[in-house]
Amino acid sequence: MTHFTMYQILEKKKHGLELSPEEIEWTIKGLLNKSVAEYQMTALLMAIYLNGMTKKETAALTDVMLNSGRTLNFNDQSVVDKHSTGGIGDKTSFILAPIAAACGVKVPMIAGRGLGFTGGTVDKVEAIPGFRTDLSLNEFETKLKEDSLVLMGQTPEIAPADRIIYALRDVTATIDSIPLITASIMSKKLAEGANGIVMDIKVGSGAFMSSKSEAKKLAKSILYTAKAYDKRCVTLLTNMNQPLGRAVGHTLELIECFEVLKDNGPQDLTVLSLELAAHMIRIAGKAKSQTQALKMAKHAVKSGAALKVFEKLIADQGGDAGVIYNYDLMDLAPVKSEVLCPKDGYVKSFVNKEIGFLCTELGGGRKVKTDKIDFGVGFYFHKKLGDKVKKGESLLTIYHRQDQLDDVTAISETLLESVIKIGRTKPAKPEVIYDLFEN
Ligand code: URA
Repeated sequence: MTHFTMYQILEKKKHGLELSPEEIEWTIKGLLNKSVAEYQMTALLMAIYLNGMTKKETAALTDVMLNSGRTLNFNDQSVVDKHSTGGIGDKTSFILAPIAAACGVKVPMIAGRGLGFTGGTVDKVEAIPGFRTDLSLNEFETKLKEDSLVLMGQTPEIAPADRIIYALRDVTATIDSIPLITASIMSKKLAEGANGIVMDIKVGSGAFMSSKSEAKKLAKSILYTAKAYDKRCVTLLTNMNQPLGRAVGHTLELIECFEVLKDNGPQDLTVLSLELAAHMIRIAGKAKSQTQALKMAKHAVKSGAALKVFEKLIADQGGDAGVIYNYDLMDLAPVKSEVLCPKDGYVKSFVNKEIGFLCTELGGGRKVKTDKIDFGVGFYFHKKLGDKVKKGESLLTIYHRQDQLDDVTAISETLLESVIKIGRTKPAKPEVIYDLFEN
């Protein structure tokens, strides 16, 4: 391969010039074999963040990241996965995956851990005692051939370049870059062998994309990449201006998912999960139209078929499936403190990101990589956007440990002072899904 220097590559990107596929490949390979230093890579990430990347550059970056590890190929149209850009209380995977699987879709879910203010699917499922997420890639491949749903954590074998780059982005304020998000997500999804991808692009105060126009650009970028690899892809732009559902925190969120699968969940979470599952069912070729797919998805919930799939998944992966019927088998923090509404009015807005940071403060997230998560702590929101509220009514319950009373007082104050805004007039009912683009 032609020899480049990192200095020249940085100079080029600093001035907003297009890098060639060879230069991108040389850089990523160098990062993996340590001939490119992490400090040089972070400088490049910031230059990319500031100057962007062309479609050609994004495609080249995706390709080299995808091929930095093993790639699976199931050669099966019914293998479809979903990915979310992350948000607060975002737990749809536990609902849509069993629904889609109950309707004949094969779901190869390689999920992530919490990042920044967002929670992670892998951390959440570990709140089920015994559940194993550390499957080997061979185990994962065999299981998916035999079964319809497998859930595991990221392995070093899949897109290892993303692992390094992701960790660098996390600490250098370079997460919310459209080409970097595209390459990160698509390299992993393409490597796990999905033939169809449903993307939930979160927009709002609890998302990496805060405006609809930026989210639309990300959707277009992801669709373009999916098309280049001949994969079907649906992107939904969805509302992340308030927690999705009512629960934030690992055990609380799982309980809420079980309730949705028992047909007893909150409206926004139920609507979004069914819609995402229906897109998976449709692009997997299991339904002719979205209407038919939605009907199938609803039936999978009403008949209890989706819950059975989840029960089998938990048991197959070493977990205690009894949790579905007895929530006491999971660790839930024993002390409950109410956050009371300071005045009459309507819930006007949430500074949603802050809720994620406050949950971390309580122990429900990591400040450093080695932190152990407390699955039992969290928030349960009784009031959501547009709800009428009265002075003295509970806005939310904080689940915590006995020795956290002082922290909880400070958290409640922050929630009331700078996170939950109460207005005099009733705001418009928030939409759950803003837009949809498909290739
Ligand atoms: N999720 C990912 O996997 N990568 C990103 O860059 C952002 C969200």
